[in-house]
Amino acid sequence: MRFYLDHAATTLLRPQARDAWLAAGQIIGNASSTHGAGQDARRVLEESRERAAVMLGCDPIEVVFTSGGTESINTALQGLWAARPSGTDSIVLPDAEHHSTMDTVAALARGGARVRPVPVDGAGRIDMAAFAIASESAALATALVANNEVGTVNDASALARAATAAGVPLHLDAVAAWGYLPLSFRALRADAPAGAGLVAMSVTGHKIGAPVGTGALVVARSARMTALLHGGAQQRGLRAGTQDIAGAAAFAVALECAEADREAESTRLALLRDRLIDGIRKSVPGAELLGDPSDRLPGNAHLLFPGAVGESLQFLLDMAGIAASTGSACQAGVAEPSHVVMAMGRSERDARSVLRFSLGSSSADADVDAVIAAIGDAVARASGAHTAERS
Ligand SMILES: Cc1ncc(COP(=O)(O)O)c(C=O)c1O
Repeated sequence: MRFYLDHAATTLLRPQARDAWLAAGQIIGNASSTHGAGQDARRVLEESRERAAVMLGCDPIEVVFTSGGTESINTALQGLWAARPSGTDSIVLPDAEHHSTMDTVAALARGGARVRPVPVDGAGRIDMAAFAIASESAALATALVANNEVGTVNDASALARAATAAGVPLHLDAVAAWGYLPLSFRALRADAPAGAGLVAMSVTGHKIGAPVGTGALVVARSARMTALLHGGAQQRGLRAGTQDIAGAAAFAVALECAEADREAESTRLALLRDRLIDGIRKSVPGAELLGDPSDRLPGNAHLLFPGAVGESLQFLLDMAGIAASTGSACQAGVAEPSHVVMAMGRSERDARSVLRFSLGSSSADADVDAVIAAIGDAVARASGAHTAERS
């Protein structure tokens, strides 16, 4: 039996999303074609956009369907940068962002952008005072709503207010947060002037039970954003290319299901997670919970096992049928210390000794019990691996 505790990397396809995907996948017709078949396809697409907009708290025209978080983030950051107000040259970048943000900003920096880093505290939470100061006269700012590694939740309203006050366009990465926190684009944009404050928000499908390759970038009507992809005039010209009707339908349904389940599921997962954390600490007294102990994503348990090598730990647990992660899945193939943990003021050695357990729709007591039963032995052996590695 496999115990899957890596839902933050990707989670199960919801049956309702799969059904919507398969049904819409039968439709023949390009939504941009003017004949009847094309218009039938367009009706399904636009209905999905409307349903997604209700869930995301925005107007349908503000929903740009994408292939997921990485594309949404690239579109937002590169697009806002290309359309930046004259005289601005800086990007506000908190230190513990996802690599899709860090690497996009690094690419823009190679092209001349100046990066204004913003520290996070020991729990991985963005320093709001520093964020507000850095935002003054910046070209754009970006921030995570919730940290995908350590699970700490940032104050999205405060981030949006700071951007509004500075008159800077803000992009929020809501990939890890959506479905677990109440988030309305419209509410977060309250009182924001045209083109400033919260102007874009990224969401992905595969973290909420839609197929991989689906997602959206919410783009405020007033946002000044240059397109990344050129070609057709689809989606306000911001994302050229034939639209994925089946993906849009499945994504809209997954958004609805995630929102309908949000409160009950968050409560259920938080209880399981707390039992997991308690059990791990009893088995491994030196284990330390990283991230904010209470204000964190309900399914996230991120632990530091001092002296143990995270990769070895992950491998040993995998041998016991347990899937967990040393950091974001995108980094899994690369033996790098977690930049998030180091941004929290920890040593490189600590940043190599962490493991993230993330719970989701399939999580049950059996998953928690399996980890608690296996973790003591795995940590003892992974600590041996550290000694062997040094010698
Ligand atoms: C916070 C965050 N942003 C962005 C991404 C990238 O999203 P996607 O996998 O849909 O490209 C991830 C994926 O792990 C994430 O956790």
